[in-house]
Amino acid sequence: MNSAQTNARKDFVAIDDYSLEELRTILELARKQKPLAREHRLPASHPGRVLACVFAKPSLRTRISFEVAMGQLGGRSLFVTDKEIGMGKRESVHDVAKVLSRLVDGIMIRWFDHDEVVQLASHATVPVVNGLTDLNHPCQVMADIMTIEEHLGSIDGKTVVMVGDGNNLANSWLNASIRFPFNFILACPEGYTPDEGILRKAEAAGASFMITHDPTEAVQGAHVIYSDAFYSMGQEAEAQQRRRDFAPFRITTELLAGADPEHIVLHCLPAHRGEEITDEVMDGPHSVVFDEAENRLHAQRAILATLIK
Ligand code: CP
Ligand code: NVA
Repeated sequence: MNSAQTNARKDFVAIDDYSLEELRTILELARKQKPLAREHRLPASHPGRVLACVFAKPSLRTRISFEVAMGQLGGRSLFVTDKEIGMGKRESVHDVAKVLSRLVDGIMIRWFDHDEVVQLASHATVPVVNGLTDLNHPCQVMADIMTIEEHLGSIDGKTVVMVGDGNNLANSWLNASIRFPFNFILACPEGYTPDEGILRKAEAAGASFMITHDPTEAVQGAHVIYSDAFYSMGQEAEAQQRRRDFAPFRITTELLAGADPEHIVLHCLPAHRGEEITDEVMDGPHSVVFDEAENRLHAQRAILATLIK
């Protein structure tokens, strides 16, 4: 553990750093601005502002959506990989934070070690937005909640079932369940449960969640079925073992038979079609995966507009 702290009013590192009211304000801005952005009628609220987008892992959605969002706000973005900045190796996290804070107006970072992102945020004077760490992926879950609410109305009282790994997405869903009043169920194989600290925090907060190892039982009556890859970025060497362990946790039409008749299917993408989810489900009538991908742009633009001065 390090003693570094993020500042919820400055950074966006974990969903539960924010109050429900603040999260709702961000989602409302995203909802309002979506049609304007689609018609290229958004006012340039952040002219001249620059967002540094730092990546230590690959990306399609996160990179493009943050860069486009910044442009839509009238600002611009810079893409930089860890190969160049070598944060923590070529130069300390502290010094990278201080230098970037003099040069840009915000930092978006996709990284492995979550604690280093927390350190970066604690030393930076500009907002730091978490674009995925090994621990969580808060911007994705904000876009997911926006998508759920577009299709099903309020998430309040709904049951969201993630079938798969207790990974960064599962952790962010647990964080969300601390704030939003929905039921979260994770159906995962034994040995693939979420982060212990996040589980304890959700439990202490009285969040409504359950961890089970039975996917069929988990999806009974579910309003939202959520999928992610069996192995995350950085776990490629475990792919074969995980494919075996997760075989009963595939999202198929048969599995979804017990879900609510109006259920929707989300996948953060990229999907390994035929592995964690079938083509039939991905391309089927309940799938909203591409609305979800688009909403990365709208949810994150609202986060940037809220944080960047
Ligand atoms: N869902 C998501 O974060 O996608 P990318 O890895 O392509 O950014
Ligand atoms: N759990 C996945 C999410 C990808 C968007 C990963 O970390 O690779």
